Amino acid sequence: MKEIKVLMVCLGNICRSPLAEGILKAKAKEQNKNIVVDSCGTGGWHIGDMPDKRSIDTALKFGIDISDQRARKLRSIDFEDFDWIFAMDIHNYNDLKTLAKEEEYHKIHLILDSLATKGQSVPDPYYDGVDGFTEVYHLLNEAIDAWMEKLV
Ligand code: 4NP
Repeated sequence: MKEIKVLMVCLGNICRSPLAEGILKAKAKEQNKNIVVDSCGTGGWHIGDMPDKRSIDTALKFGIDISDQRARKLRSIDFEDFDWIFAMDIHNYNDLKTLAKEEEYHKIHLILDSLATKGQSVPDPYYDGVDGFTEVYHLLNEAIDAWMEKLV
C-alpha cells in the first residue's frame, strides 16, 4: 500500500492543526490506511510547545491523545515532502499559496472544502472558550471523513 503524506497547517500549530492531525491519524489507524500525518504553523510563536490544553482536552473527550505533539513552523521542504497540504483557514491557504512553487499548488486545499459549502474557514478558537474547540473538532471530523476516500 502506497504511503500518503498529509500536512495540516494553521497559524500557531497549537489549536486547530494538532486536532486535525490527531483526527486523521485516528481515522487512518481505524481504516488501516497507510497515511503519515504531521502538522505545523505558518507562525513561529509556539515552536516546541504542546497543543493548547483546550485542544488536548477536546481530543481526549473523543478518545484521541494529542499530548505528544509539539508545535513547529512550516518549512519550504514541506511543499516537496507532503502529498496533501490542508490549510485550516483562508489566511493560511493564501500564505501557503504565496510560499509554494506553482507546480506544488495542486497539493494545497482548504480543509473544509470537502464539505458542501466551499471556501469556509475553520474558526480560530484561540480566544474562545472550550465550546469553540468542540465546534472545531466536529467541523474537522466531518471534513476529514469526506477527505478519506479522496486521499487513498
Ligand atoms: P491555531 O490558533 O492557529 O489554531 O494554533 C492560534 C494559536 C495561537 C495564536 C493564534 C492562533 N497566537 O497568536 O499566538
